[in-house]
Amino acid sequence: MRDDAESAQGHVRPAPESFLDPALVADISANGVNQQRRGLLKKALAGAVAAMGSAAAVANSDSNIVDIPEWSKILGKPVAANPYGLPSKYEANIIRRQSPGLTQTDQASVAFTPLQSMFGMITPSGLHFERHHQGWVDIDPRRHRFMINGLVDTPMVFTMEDLMRMPSVSRMHFLECGANTALEWGNSAVPTVQYTHGMLSGSEWTGVPLSLLLERAGYNKKARYILAEGADGSSMTRTINMENALDDVLVAYGQNGEMLRPEQGYPLRLVVPGVQGVSWVKWLRRIEVGDKPYATKDETSHYVDLMPDGMQRQYTAIQEAKSVITSPSGGQKLMNKGYYCITGLAWSGRGTVTKVEVSTDGGRNWREARLEGPALPKMLTRFNADWVWQGDEALLQSRVHDSTGYIQPQRAELVAVRGTRSIYHNNAIQTWRVNQSGEVDNVQLG
Ligand code: MTE
Repeated sequence: MRDDAESAQGHVRPAPESFLDPALVADISANGVNQQRRGLLKKALAGAVAAMGSAAAVANSDSNIVDIPEWSKILGKPVAANPYGLPSKYEANIIRRQSPGLTQTDQASVAFTPLQSMFGMITPSGLHFERHHQGWVDIDPRRHRFMINGLVDTPMVFTMEDLMRMPSVSRMHFLECGANTALEWGNSAVPTVQYTHGMLSGSEWTGVPLSLLLERAGYNKKARYILAEGADGSSMTRTINMENALDDVLVAYGQNGEMLRPEQGYPLRLVVPGVQGVSWVKWLRRIEVGDKPYATKDETSHYVDLMPDGMQRQYTAIQEAKSVITSPSGGQKLMNKGYYCITGLAWSGRGTVTKVEVSTDGGRNWREARLEGPALPKMLTRFNADWVWQGDEALLQSRVHDSTGYIQPQRAELVAVRGTRSIYHNNAIQTWRVNQSGEVDNVQLG
């Protein structure tokens, strides 16, 4: 399945400022060099630009600089013209996208985050990927109830008001669907990073530690697992072991400083740091405490790993360390030779990112990238590396090291253990090929 690359890329940004040397600062036409990165480029290349006598002359002939533009001569719009702030109309192409033909219905489907256009480590809530098994619902918070039952002294029912009066914490964590990068098991199936890796987002989540609620209900000493259940029509139910449940799991109502978006489970969802997205049950209505795994449909027939010997691995919940270069990436085009900032994201479900390396020759040589801190546990970490493209074919890769000492595997290493019949948990190194025309596409080596 190959999507139309045009529709998948995001917008074409204007060419770089003309006072920067076009031979040094190339425009990435598909997704562009953003303003912030331009600032960095300007700094990094200040010396080179200063050495260029022609730069000022080019600027003087640019009518965008010389003429006073219309926006400098008018009265601007009043405050609260957008009572809830919206992105600029010039950013209208930076949106979540469905992969055409991937699913048969729009309810049991997924819309991917445009990673190629993101900066930093936080995903704006409106661009957080969506994965629903039976569509999304917008629940009246006054009517929503959350129950804890099973092996507890006192079964409890909470209103949203009850929960929001309790002590809360805010934590930044990535959310990655176990099926992220699923289409790449067999061959390089989709053209852009939005589709290869876009079931991934990073947010600040606010809520009540589940441990506090379980203690209040008085969980039994025999308790080994919990079952989390959602209120949508999909009967989403997932088993989580007690150790995790008592560690850093949140019953969350906040995302990036405001209430959760309906697509993300408003008014209540489970946040299970480091664990695959399916366990982050949305529209959370019940937690049952038990002494054995529940073996529900979403953990026996789905979200299992088909191994080369035909056996299925179940309950492989943790998202292993993974990284991807988000720019330059598939579907983009390097317009000129010269300087590029290779940028991307790295994360680990087992801890923190300690190092990211990048290669421009398909993994033969590696050099360390800059981590744009803070590198938080079970959260996205942004990395950057300087690169001067000479116009030759290049094979761009990134590989992450995490705090457990684990190193992200090359695709051949992963396939040697897992085969190619899995759907879930593909954390292989991604390769983007830059051809001599500067076009970037998705390839697999070996
Ligand atoms: N919870 C409920 N109740 N229903 C769902 O369909 N989808 C799960 C999980 N929680 C789902 C759910 C899956 S498969 C994933 S990857 C994450 O939610 C996606 O969360 P998001 O839509 O906020 O990105």
